[in-house]
Amino acid sequence: MDGFVVKASWVVLFFQLMLSDQFGEVEGWDNVISWDDMRLDEHDYVMVSRRMRRDDHKWDFVALEDQGGRNPNRFIVVDGNGRGDSATVQGAVDMVPESNSQRVKIYVLPGIYREKVVIPASKPYISLIGNQNQSNQTVITWGDKASDIAKDGTVLGTYRSASVTVLSDYFCASGITFENSVNAVVGGIGMQAVALRIAGDKAMFNGVRILGTQDTLLDDIGSHYFYQSYIQGTVDFIFGRARSIYKDCIVHSATKTYGAIAAHHRDSPYDDTGFSFINCTINGSGKVLLGRAWGNYSRIIYSYCDIDDIISPPGWSDWGFPSRDRTAVFGEYKCRGKGADRTYRAPWSKSLSYYEAKPFLDMGFISAEKWLTL
Ligand SMILES: *[C@@H]1O[C@H](CO)[C@@H](O)[C@H](O)[C@H]1NC(C)=O
Ligand SMILES: *[C@@H]1O[C@H](CO)[C@@H](O)[C@H](O)[C@H]1NC(C)=O
Ligand SMILES: *[C@@H]1O[C@H](CO)[C@@H](O)[C@H](O)[C@H]1NC(C)=O
Ligand SMILES: *[C@@H]1O[C@H](CO)[C@@H](O)[C@H](O)[C@H]1NC(C)=O
Ligand SMILES: *[C@@H]1O[C@H](CO)[C@@H](O)[C@H](O)[C@H]1NC(C)=O
Repeated sequence: MDGFVVKASWVVLFFQLMLSDQFGEVEGWDNVISWDDMRLDEHDYVMVSRRMRRDDHKWDFVALEDQGGRNPNRFIVVDGNGRGDSATVQGAVDMVPESNSQRVKIYVLPGIYREKVVIPASKPYISLIGNQNQSNQTVITWGDKASDIAKDGTVLGTYRSASVTVLSDYFCASGITFENSVNAVVGGIGMQAVALRIAGDKAMFNGVRILGTQDTLLDDIGSHYFYQSYIQGTVDFIFGRARSIYKDCIVHSATKTYGAIAAHHRDSPYDDTGFSFINCTINGSGKVLLGRAWGNYSRIIYSYCDIDDIISPPGWSDWGFPSRDRTAVFGEYKCRGKGADRTYRAPWSKSLSYYEAKPFLDMGFISAEKWLTL
């Protein structure tokens, strides 16, 4: 019997070592993002209605955690009309304990939330959930731009202009609109206005809308999956250093003149980052570029996308650095629509073969097998 116990603990240790990542944190399957993390089930809805009938409007989140640490229905209700646990999204985030280690669902009732939200790195496993397929009814909006002055007197800059900033890992969102309400003039100085900045690792966005003009979505650092979402902007409206797949998304150009969809930043050929757009619809207005090389090894691939006649014929830009023509990885694979015509494309961009496109078509590109079960 003793021998068995020893062996069993060795087996556990072995698996912990096997699963532990570079930060020494043990990853169990609890850490994986699944569909359940992005919606409320019937039991959750019963809990929501119960909680919203409470008179004192108070709910001590930590106390609930103590009552049943394993309670899978840990969630916080946000209602702008004051009948939930918090009237603001930030208030709900503040209720999540530091070093949170279990999934917490923040259910945001329909409404317009005019606030700037920051989810700190110390609070992983947060879900932001609106009603499914009704993302346009639950809107988080703010209107800072890069040239604005912060409270401390410094210029805000692009990164700090974000309406919603996510710094934590294992974040997911569903049925929510993230908006920056600044209406930037194309080419305007200091008009960068980020709606969403995602700088946590392992995040999924399902059926969300991300709205802005210049620099809408700062897909900053980490591995991310955007699914059936709508992203709107004018210039570099999907930008950053992340490793992301955009699948079945609508990428909507709102420029009346010129602009660019994606600006990916990659400095080394050994960097595993890049933006892969798969089966997306690219439409809207203007004549935009598919991508611009921000950094020598910028990597952007469009596969199986439906591209309307809104693309500037060269399609791609080296950001004025001809040396990047040799190093940037810009590819198109089996796209359709008038905008997919490659006749006048920058000659250094590529029409990919299946074998070249394959690594970007596979969910393995974002190591999904380690953190997503869909
Ligand atoms: C949301 O839309 C999807 C796809 O159209 C559908 O399968 C699903 O049933 C919808 N969910 C709700 C709650 O309406
Ligand atoms: C929200 O989306 C629904 C379904 O896509 C649409 O019917 C409705 O008009 C939209 N509402 C607004 C305010 O955009
Ligand atoms: C491509 O996207 C469309 C629209 O979102 C969806 O209906 C279709 O199932 C997708 N096709 C594949 C092969 O994923
Ligand atoms: C863009 O594509 C989506 C999905 O097919 C469609 O609903 C929308 O009407 C299109 N918008 C424009 C301006 O063509
Ligand atoms: C990018 O390439 C140029 C030209 O080869 C080089 O001078 C520069 O140092 C590179 N930048 C980085 C960040 O590696």
